[in-house]
Amino acid sequence: MFRDDLLAGKRILITGGGTGIGLSIGRRYLSLGAELVICGRREQVLAEAAEELQRDTGGRVSFKACDIRDAAQVDALLDWAWTEGPLDGLVNNAAGNFIAQSETLSPRAIDAVLGIVLHGSAYMTIGCGRRWLAAGRRASVLSIITTYAWTGSAYVVPSAMAKAGVLAMIRSLAVEWGGRGVRLNAIAPGPFPTAGAWERLVPKPELAAAFEAKNPLKRAGRHEELANLASFLMAEEAAYINGEVVTIDGGEWLQGAGQFNFVGSMMSQADWQALKPRK
Ligand code: HXC
Repeated sequence: MFRDDLLAGKRILITGGGTGIGLSIGRRYLSLGAELVICGRREQVLAEAAEELQRDTGGRVSFKACDIRDAAQVDALLDWAWTEGPLDGLVNNAAGNFIAQSETLSPRAIDAVLGIVLHGSAYMTIGCGRRWLAAGRRASVLSIITTYAWTGSAYVVPSAMAKAGVLAMIRSLAVEWGGRGVRLNAIAPGPFPTAGAWERLVPKPELAAAFEAKNPLKRAGRHEELANLASFLMAEEAAYINGEVVTIDGGEWLQGAGQFNFVGSMMSQADWQALKPRK
């Protein structure tokens, strides 16, 4: 789909890059010539991911443990990353989420999700942006949000609040920083199964099956499909795309939105025939 050197010469930081979607995006970026910096809370997970990625792609990966809820840790991580040379890209991928009846949420539960998704993405984006703007350097930020950033969703309320905030952040900064060489976009994925998300969000096999059944394409997303989109948006060739959110969900959220979408499952062929105008 792309030239092998699409991302050559770019140094890209992926938060939560040791597992799940972040790991898949990192693998694709390396195969397209990028150098990677990954962070996450668990050093051992990062070390294993870095080794696997370097073995599989021959690319360069450095890593450091960082809890992005802590602004001081984010600043230290960025100082460390910049000692090797400036970054060219940031992927705000790290997230925290679980399904729960909202009336049961404790303050700490709400803060855990908002801290990772909203505050963590803001600390990272503004920390990188400050460094890029001071150096007059071109750069690209990609944030992984969800389609319920604009629809909202029952049972994942802190996540919906936080992802909506990240979308507002990238649209705001796209205008504030775009003219100074820093552009920001988002991807809104539908269901892309990962161990971390699925154990917290899809605790029963019937729920996993329902994700596929209610999707117009009757399947979940494949990681390589998301990684290709993330590569396209990160590349310099997409330089005029700024402040945009691209949905990749097989049509899932529209399926839930269109007023007549349910009709197809309740009409037989005979019902449709009976509706045809008579001559
Ligand atoms: C209710 C819960 C809970 C649950 C944790 N808490 N899990 N409350 N239901 N299932 C509460 C705890 O009781 C505690 O509050 C508070 O949250 C903090 O929990 P800790 O375990 O101490 O926090 P921590 O270890 O920091 O874990 C953070 C986390 C966890 C967000 C709670 O789930 C996590 O580490 N997630 C990271 C990975 C992840 O979530 N990936 C999925 C992202 S998917 P009290 O008051 O008891 O102390 C995504 C998009 C999905 O974002 C789109 C899908 C289609």
